[in-house]
Amino acid sequence: SIFLVGCGGEKEKTDGVQQAKAPQKKVIKMSMKFVEDEQTAKTFHQVANKINDRLKDNLEIQVFTGGQLPIGKDSMEQVVGGANWISVDGINFLGDYVPDYNAVVGPMLYNNFDEYLAMTKSDLVKNLNAEAEKKGIKVLSLDYLFGFRSMLTEKEVKTPEDLKGLKIRVPNSQLYMLTLEAMGANPTPLPFTEVYSGIQQKVVDGLEGSLMTIYGTKIYEVRKQVSLTNHLLGVSAVTISNKVWNELTDEQRKVIEEEIYNGSVYNTDETVKLEKEYQTKLEELGVKFNEVDAVAFNKAIENVFNQFPKWTPGIYNQIMDELNKIRNK
Ligand code: G3P
Repeated sequence: SIFLVGCGGEKEKTDGVQQAKAPQKKVIKMSMKFVEDEQTAKTFHQVANKINDRLKDNLEIQVFTGGQLPIGKDSMEQVVGGANWISVDGINFLGDYVPDYNAVVGPMLYNNFDEYLAMTKSDLVKNLNAEAEKKGIKVLSLDYLFGFRSMLTEKEVKTPEDLKGLKIRVPNSQLYMLTLEAMGANPTPLPFTEVYSGIQQKVVDGLEGSLMTIYGTKIYEVRKQVSLTNHLLGVSAVTISNKVWNELTDEQRKVIEEEIYNGSVYNTDETVKLEKEYQTKLEELGVKFNEVDAVAFNKAIENVFNQFPKWTPGIYNQIMDELNKIRNK
């Protein structure tokens, strides 16, 4: 204001009242593809509420579901660019920055969630997280599971032959493209938000996804055959800019880490429970479940692990060694 000109702009005109400066509240946006009805979205609302409660006036996490804000690659770019942003999305998008992550979530590696959850605590993965930090990405969790992914099509799929000529929607990721190609399909990358209409408009014939996705997004309304390939793990990485992370206080970092970890444990428990419930519900809704020729599909994907030029040589063997250690424990 004009008043300030004469006094060097040092003092603000306060009309005699000392204005109490409101403490600066840091707002961090959290972006995800998951829709409100999916467990992952429900879990993160809960996680954010707990964090916001504990950090009251100094930090607020705002959750944006269903792709209201950028997701996938675009969400990772927000993180890497240093925005006040938390990305919840496929580990493959982290693999765009540190390629070896794709090997950790490669096709048909794990027999169950526990094996994977032990892997994310291994030194091998801790070293990848250190690599990610060098690229400006702080990994908060790799443990947000939403089930093994299977085929959802119109036609029953038993063998790789049955996938010939079928356009199958995949996330925009080399790992998914190569895996589905090896399995016999024609993979078509699309953001999940476009899958429902994509099926209706015959852009794709079907998709691959977990029961949590199939039930939670109501995509079963347009496709009725689930063929249990269990080819990839549905799991999200939770990431934040390393710069933003380092600017937070110790207290803020501690609260965020604790609540995201607790949320992941809760989320896995719910997922295990809900997968059973959802299968029954889906069957009641007319969805058919088919067993597949697992040997044939396993053989079909064998070569996928040799097709990533950016991987550290020997990473597949390192992962298998680690997995054998986990299995022998
Ligand atoms: O809401 C969609 C989510 O359940 C799965 O997304 O891209 O991993 O298939 P996507």
